[in-house]
Amino acid sequence: MANTDHALTWQTNDLDAFWLPFTPNRAFKRAPRLISRAKDMHYFTPDGRAVLDGLAGLWCTNAGHNRDPIVAAISRQAAELDYSAAFHFAHPKAFELASRVVALAPADLNRVFFCNSGSEAVDTALKIALAYHNVRGEGARTRLIGRERGYHGVGFGGISVGGIVNNRKFFGTLLAGVDHLPATYSREHQAFTKGEPEWGGHLANELDRIVALHGASTIAAVIVEPMAGSTGVLPPPKGYLDRLRAICDKHGILLIFDEVITGFGRLGHAFAAERYGVTPDLLCFAKGINSGAVPMGGVIAREGVYNAFMQGPEHTIELFHGYTYSAHPLACAAGLAALDLYRDEQLFERARRLEPRFADAAMTLKNLPGVLDVRTVGISAGIDLAARPGAIGERGYEAMERAFHDEDLVIRITGDTLAIAPPLIVSEAQVAEIFEKTARVIRAVM
Ligand SMILES: Cc1ncc(COP(=O)(O)O)c(C=O)c1O
Repeated sequence: MANTDHALTWQTNDLDAFWLPFTPNRAFKRAPRLISRAKDMHYFTPDGRAVLDGLAGLWCTNAGHNRDPIVAAISRQAAELDYSAAFHFAHPKAFELASRVVALAPADLNRVFFCNSGSEAVDTALKIALAYHNVRGEGARTRLIGRERGYHGVGFGGISVGGIVNNRKFFGTLLAGVDHLPATYSREHQAFTKGEPEWGGHLANELDRIVALHGASTIAAVIVEPMAGSTGVLPPPKGYLDRLRAICDKHGILLIFDEVITGFGRLGHAFAAERYGVTPDLLCFAKGINSGAVPMGGVIAREGVYNAFMQGPEHTIELFHGYTYSAHPLACAAGLAALDLYRDEQLFERARRLEPRFADAAMTLKNLPGVLDVRTVGISAGIDLAARPGAIGERGYEAMERAFHDEDLVIRITGDTLAIAPPLIVSEAQVAEIFEKTARVIRAVM
């Protein structure tokens, strides 16, 4: 077909060409959920419906959507400097943003490596951990330890240490030499807990067992999400993270926190590391760094990790890793504006103050039919629904569809688990609205 013919037949509402990520494409294209505009707590559909965002984009728009200072910073930056080479050159805002991130991080987590997503942040952290041991002459430390039910993005490193079967089973043999801690969730012991469960701290001792099996001298790093978001909001049991830290210290193993969801206020602090008083050696972030406005991720390293690389002749590259768009000017400009908003509007403190009322509102779902568990921590909630016999995930999918089409609400689903994590600017009235709408949705799908 000639190009001109193609132009004539092509329609702006043709849904065929776009292969949607992590989405059932056929079901979506039969009943699309389209969003064309957003402001603060709301999306707007092409036909003008206002839809309440119960998920902060995808756990990322922590300051709300299309905030004026972020929009202005991006457009100013686009006019000033679109791009400059990321290797061997740098632009001032990369240093400024790194300094601002470091100021928010605990202890000596004070060197920032930028990338463009959570997946890249995880693969970057895993590579830094392996290379760190290598440059120190402990190159036999090659094993990486993840956790069942962990989500660390979709790179080969991330899916290897991750613990979600469907993200792994289609993709071959993955990284060699990976082992997994058990998941920290037990419905029997933890159902309907607000915040960190009392039961489960002892599960960190499984790391001792893994160390005994493989030998500490073969293990490079342990990676966990302080709170596992993607498998349905699993807060860490009390004492669990401290125990992991102690075991890692005992054996010279690096501890990596994947804070892609928990970073920038979700748990009422800049980082979960601060909430739990546990400092990892490497900390992955993304999403909230610029309130989801431009793709960006990064890894914060402790000074000692960075220093281990700073040796050899000065003209040589210390870490053979990086991305064309590491510290992209637009992402940095958006990041600086987002961090200003978090500070000026005290959004992390706001989340901390709101947490008890958010948890109470979530627990109003407790006695609805088919609700097996409700968990909350910070401004996030996970709600497990009973699966329909022989159709795992169908009820959850229908809940998400009904929330959007019937209740003008965006929620997240993982199988039959609903997740709610609105922007940190959410009002108390909107919290109530989100859970009232969710209650109606749950009743409708039972
Ligand atoms: C803990 C965690 N790590 C990594 C990722 C991957 O981030 P991205 O989708 O930006 O690659 C996510 C995404 O939700 C996440 O929750």
